[in-house]
Amino acid sequence: MSEVADGRILVTGALGQIGTDLVERLREIHGSEMVVASDIREIPDHPCVLNGPFLILDVLSDKILKLVPEENIQTIYHLAAILSANGEVNPELCESINVDGTRNILEAARIHGSRVFIPSSIAVFGPDAPKHAPQITALNPTTKYGMTKVDCEIMGMMYWINHGVDVRGIRYPGIISWKSQVSGGTTDYAVDIFHAALSEGKSYDCFLKADTKLPMMYMEDAIKATISLMDEPLESMSLARCGYNVSGLSFCAEELFSEIKKHIPDFICEYKPDVRQNYADSWPDSIDDSVARKDWNWQPSFELEELVEDMIKNLS
Ligand SMILES: NC(=O)c1ccc[n+]([C@@H]2O[C@H](COP(=O)([O-])OP(=O)(O)OC[C@H]3O[C@@H](n4cnc5c(N)ncnc54)[C@H](O)[C@@H]3O)[C@@H](O)[C@H]2O)c1
Repeated sequence: MSEVADGRILVTGALGQIGTDLVERLREIHGSEMVVASDIREIPDHPCVLNGPFLILDVLSDKILKLVPEENIQTIYHLAAILSANGEVNPELCESINVDGTRNILEAARIHGSRVFIPSSIAVFGPDAPKHAPQITALNPTTKYGMTKVDCEIMGMMYWINHGVDVRGIRYPGIISWKSQVSGGTTDYAVDIFHAALSEGKSYDCFLKADTKLPMMYMEDAIKATISLMDEPLESMSLARCGYNVSGLSFCAEELFSEIKKHIPDFICEYKPDVRQNYADSWPDSIDDSVARKDWNWQPSFELEELVEDMIKNLS
């Protein structure tokens, strides 16, 4: 199925970590003019702005209702959100952008018949979920961010069941990438640590404990998962459609540090946990993604050794 057979693609929050890579890949596949990047802010020299159509769009505004027909948008990748660490500092803003912003996008999709991708997160799981998190389990997150992600999964299902809007989503683990800086997430350490290792000082203060294990994924795998999910025929989707578990890797900070040290032997890492430790402790260590593997043949490609090698090569 070609997702742009009848129209163009809109990406919200396109200047963020995932949008930077997703827009580039979608433009390679469909052509630059077919992919409209948007964000609440503009960065003039950002590749999403330079290499194709770009619009300022606040997902809380009703501009989206006009923009979808005007730009002939058939598919929306709705990435605009406030992430975990920032969300706990400003829970009202997190609720507003993550939940109200998503409702706005879903309304536009309902009115104009668009398809929607809405990322969920491993933050939907709370401390009562098994540490190897299955697709179906209690979703009792203790972070505001996690609660907004559960709300969005439920809202997506309601728009599918009640209005037939083709909504799909993935519970992303922590995403590791080199093209953009990260900020505001609990898994950011796994990106920051590379920048520190390659800096002059060659030292990093990690805000999580050495043995904190979390589900992670290399950006290439995240983009592959996102595009494969959206390319699948409707019939392949099961009840997990708005929040498929996908697994990439699972490692603790110490394991990542040891792997980086193989390339940069004089790199030093100290562990100084802050409030983000509490969020990480409430999440699973690893993810059971058997439903995604069965429904749409999901298969990750990157192991830790390859990921570290690729990050160092690209950031050097
Ligand atoms: N990066 C990860 O590790 C990760 C993990 C799990 C889930 N996710 C989810 O994936 C999605 C994208 O994450 P990301 O890492 O790219 O986030 P990011 O913080 O890097 O980017 C979010 C973008 O949204 C924009 N934005 C904020 N408020 C907006 C508004 N009102 N209107 C329009 N744009 C607005 C920001 O300017 C930013 O460019 C989010 O839904 C996030 O919850 C990300």
